[in-house]
Amino acid sequence: MSDFVSNGWSLFVAAATVLGLALCLALLIIASRRKVMAADNSTGHVWDEDIRELNNPLPRWWMVLFVLTVVFSVLYLALYPGLGGYAGRLGWSSTGQFDAEQAKAREAMRAIYARFDGLPVETVARDPQAMGIGERLFANNCATCHGSDAKGSKGFPNLTDNDWLYGGSGETLIETITRGREGTMPPMAAAVGNGEDVRNLAHYVLSLSGSPHNSVAAALGKSRFTACAACHGMDGRGNQALGAPNLTDKVWLHGWGEPAIVAMINNGKHSHMPEHGSRLSPEQIRVLAAYVWGLSHERP
Ligand code: HEC
Ligand code: HEC
Repeated sequence: MSDFVSNGWSLFVAAATVLGLALCLALLIIASRRKVMAADNSTGHVWDEDIRELNNPLPRWWMVLFVLTVVFSVLYLALYPGLGGYAGRLGWSSTGQFDAEQAKAREAMRAIYARFDGLPVETVARDPQAMGIGERLFANNCATCHGSDAKGSKGFPNLTDNDWLYGGSGETLIETITRGREGTMPPMAAAVGNGEDVRNLAHYVLSLSGSPHNSVAAALGKSRFTACAACHGMDGRGNQALGAPNLTDKVWLHGWGEPAIVAMINNGKHSHMPEHGSRLSPEQIRVLAAYVWGLSHERP
């Protein structure tokens, strides 16, 4: 009822409810008044020559049931919300019940998570129970983007290869999951030169990881890489503080080959990893980070 801006609607709903109940009772009383219509107790209606409509009183059990439903609704409206804005004597509300159940579940979970409290992520990763919880948390919250095997897909990083945009230490993983990440590469074509320069530079980028490339074009493109060094480093090994990928390994988040890299230079890219700090508790995130860490490390 808090959705109503003025008290008038609350009064209107309450009045309509009470009036409805009163009308039900009135109907019962009127209907139970016996009206004698004809000497043979019939209403005078006759069908198919000899079928006559009688005017018998309502059965007693039916009357009692009817009155009981009215009594029930009066009691219900006194105890539970239903009369406009009136909250009911019990003070029950669906959100209140939900909160109480949540609190109970959190209390039960706290006992389980207490074992991992304050432990380094790398230590939690050795606990089979934590890994089980982490696996379920991952399936529910992360698998939609990173895949149920966490191997990712184009645009969504593989979390099992120990190759990190932002770093793979336990604390960094906690930060990534809690706060989310925004990876932004601006369109760079203007800083590089014409279409030919961009293509040559793409071949130089491919040469950094020993991927198939045209070495003549790569040699011509080399000098243009200065435009990229601020983020990817002079040697192309990337910068985890910016989430700029290492270009010297064969791990490609957005695909490789001349067309893919030319498109990357021309259009730039923005990738968004949503924050989970408001959806998951810090304990859950610690266990989840341990699960992710464990995906790319040997477990005893
Ligand atoms: C809506 C899709 C989406 C969801 C859901 C999502 N992620 Fe991500 N995640 C991404 C994208 C996209 C990136 C890459 C961000 C970038 O390139 O800057 C990323 C990056 C990451 C990274 C950084 C990888 C690296 O190489 O440094 C980690 C770790 C990660 N996600 C873990 C998780 C976990 C754990 C969950 C579940 C709580 C999760 N993600 C849920 C889309 C998602
Ligand atoms: C302002 C920083 C910045 C500059 C300058 C920059 N990049 Fe990037 N680059 C990034 C970031 C951040 C990403 C990752 C985007 C994401 O998270 O999806 C990226 C991604 C890439 C990728 C995709 C890598 C993959 O794994 O798929 C390529 C290729 C690339 N950059 C090449 C270049 C080249 C060539 C230049 C120079 C013309 C350049 N970048 C300049 C920040 C930068």
